[in-house]
Amino acid sequence: MSLDDNQVDINEVLDSDQAHVWHHLTQHKAFEETKPPVMVRGKGMRITDANGKEYLDAVSGGVWTVNVGYGQERIANAVRDQLVEMCYFANSAGNIPGALFAQKLIEKMPGLSRVYYSNSGSEANEKAYKMVRQLAAIENNGVKHKIIYRDRDYHGTTIGALSSTGQFQRKAQYGPFLPGFVEMPHCLEYRSQYGEVDNYGERAARELETVILREGAETVGAVVLEPITAGGGVITPPEGYWETIQEICTKYDVLLHIDEVVCGLGRTGKWFGYQHYGIKPDIVTMAKGVASGYAAISCTVTTEALFDRFKANPDDPMSYFRDISTFGGCASGPAAALENMKLIEEEGLIDNAAAMGEYLMEKLRSLQQKHQIIGDVRGKGLFVGLELVTDRLSKEPVDESIPAKIAADCMQQGVIIGRTNRSFEKHNNTVCLSPALICTEKDIDEIVSAVDSAISRL
Ligand SMILES: Cc1ncc(COP(=O)(O)O)c(C=O)c1O
Repeated sequence: MSLDDNQVDINEVLDSDQAHVWHHLTQHKAFEETKPPVMVRGKGMRITDANGKEYLDAVSGGVWTVNVGYGQERIANAVRDQLVEMCYFANSAGNIPGALFAQKLIEKMPGLSRVYYSNSGSEANEKAYKMVRQLAAIENNGVKHKIIYRDRDYHGTTIGALSSTGQFQRKAQYGPFLPGFVEMPHCLEYRSQYGEVDNYGERAARELETVILREGAETVGAVVLEPITAGGGVITPPEGYWETIQEICTKYDVLLHIDEVVCGLGRTGKWFGYQHYGIKPDIVTMAKGVASGYAAISCTVTTEALFDRFKANPDDPMSYFRDISTFGGCASGPAAALENMKLIEEEGLIDNAAAMGEYLMEKLRSLQQKHQIIGDVRGKGLFVGLELVTDRLSKEPVDESIPAKIAADCMQQGVIIGRTNRSFEKHNNTVCLSPALICTEKDIDEIVSAVDSAISRL
């Protein structure tokens, strides 16, 4: 809906929003006096709020989603055309964009071959967990059902996905959680749990083996990991980490599930984050950037070998994957995803993400020289975090009010940045930058300059 067509009275919108909308991740007390933010228009890298103020969006829709930027008419047109032609049928039957997008996606993911559609990242992960649990049920009386997850990783908002999330504050007050999910330690070398070690990556990955052996390898079905931890503080894996994880999964017959909900679709300068590390996953989940927010779609992608296990016993009426997602049948999702992927290819956005990512990293490393508060700069492609500390030697994290102040200052300047938010007891101290894949050096200069000014003003 547009403000320009005179159908919308913006004051009525703001009043209705204040009176009736319960916003995500928001303490609403302050909005008894003031109106919550309402975004009304977007084009390219920029969005405009209801008061007419324009912002450069350095976080792709707040949560790493609008990978191709705002106002891409070709995606909107593809969705419109599909809705008019055939909007929906349950995904027990196929649809044209669903088939075509699956083929195009699989071309980008050697070794994988089946796409299961649903409509959020949490749901895509839930599907994967159900697959693991059902395989255990079909093949060995449910024994090999446990799923290992990692401290600081996030896998979604539903109770199952939260049960597999390693973020204390995110989970607090929403328990009890589901049995069968077991945590392993994080791999943030900047905060090494083992002091100074030469082979931190391998050492951190060996924790997976320790957990598998403690639980009993016969009980562990899968491990779910983000290729680069996102909301947990943009944690890039240390050298040697993934090789060891892969080796351990093979050794103990544990399925490797990679959560690409944030890293997928070009964010890190390759189609998928795991492709930087030579990993061969059994399951990959994705959402956010799949259709860049132009439609709700998520995918749980598996190997053909895993898929085959669900048809091994056709005489058993319980042995196939008996799952459904109503909106996994919305044809608008794959229609948007297909056009989104074509756009990324035609405009060379993966290469742009890699090149602009390097430029951004360079700029931020210079900023780190200037501001003592920046303890660590991490990331890959257009996916970067600045960990803030009170002192570089002790690495004492700053209070979460500091990144909040920096974000508020940037907002005042007309630049929207992100930060770790109510995830950990002491470590909500990372500022996050993830501009759309279309960004230019000029956009990055503007973003970094806003962060520089905000930190200078602290
Ligand atoms: C790595 C990761 N996995 C899963 C999810 C959950 O996705 P959704 O919010 O679409 O359910 C998120 C959301 O931020 C995420 O960052």
